[in-house]
Amino acid sequence: MTAAADPTRDPVVRIDALTAEYRTRRGVVRALDEVSLDVRPGELLAIVGESGSGKSTLSQAIGRLLPRACRLVSGTVRVLERDVAALDDAGIRRLRREQLGFIPQDPIASLDPTMRIGRQLHLAIAPLGRPTDRATLVSLLESVRIADPERALGLFPHEVSGGMAQRIAIAMAMAREPRILVADEPTGSLDAQVREEILDLIVRLTRESGASLIWVSHDLGAVRRWCERVCVMHRGRIVEEGPVSEVLTDPSHPYTRTLLAALPSAPAPAADGPDEGTETT
Ligand SMILES: Nc1ncnc2c1ncn2[C@@H]1O[C@H](COP(=O)(O)OP(=O)(O)O)[C@@H](O)[C@H]1O
Ligand SMILES: [Mg+2]
Repeated sequence: MTAAADPTRDPVVRIDALTAEYRTRRGVVRALDEVSLDVRPGELLAIVGESGSGKSTLSQAIGRLLPRACRLVSGTVRVLERDVAALDDAGIRRLRREQLGFIPQDPIASLDPTMRIGRQLHLAIAPLGRPTDRATLVSLLESVRIADPERALGLFPHEVSGGMAQRIAIAMAMAREPRILVADEPTGSLDAQVREEILDLIVRLTRESGASLIWVSHDLGAVRRWCERVCVMHRGRIVEEGPVSEVLTDPSHPYTRTLLAALPSAPAPAADGPDEGTETT
């Protein structure tokens, strides 16, 4: 896979010694422990690690979207040179709206069940000052390869499949032309065939737009196929980080070796996954 990232340009996200804790009834849980990470412009970065290792907390911290129970103990998160903790509410909302795109874990739940798809797209795009006429919405759905966009605009969320809902969520995120895309296990709720199509779509749109992708996954096989760089998290720390070709071939950390050993299949062929994602419901 070619490296679209340009390491000479400033990082779009810069996380420095971030420590975060959840207050729970059973005490304090340290979810992030001195995590430092730079995300370069245009790169496809995977964050892997077992459940509970801190991946979601880290990705939420980028948009200052941590749950109330979570407290940042120390460290900083900078997005496009701005310290997110220092922004006022209007500032963080603007940063999220204009620079960050979040692709949800559960796409159907991310849609409003009471509203047709067309209306939701309109509401997502209108605040950006873009046209929301029918032709624009149709072309937006075409860009995420929805086969019958005219029909899709009239559907309610309960009438669409998980794969289609994820295409719609991706369309909403990409309509903002974000510099940074954050996808926390975006295919966790989808079945295997659709999963590949959605990953292919996310990767293609990321490349076409020049955005950076931060993709949280526990699927090392998929990471190997799609990403350039990988961070391995374990108990709130980044224990290993580097090019996918190195980290997932010759890991230096024992925990990464354990993760790799749990992988069922041999390395899969590179980059050109299925691309005709055209399901209709
Ligand atoms: N809302 C929450 N309240 C309390 N503890 C939480 C909450 N969310 C996550 N945690 C804890 O923080 C740690 C990291 O969780 P998380 O970031 O969700 O990991 P991952 O995404 O890698 O599964 C885990 O120990 C988890 O139990
Ligand atoms: Mg998670």
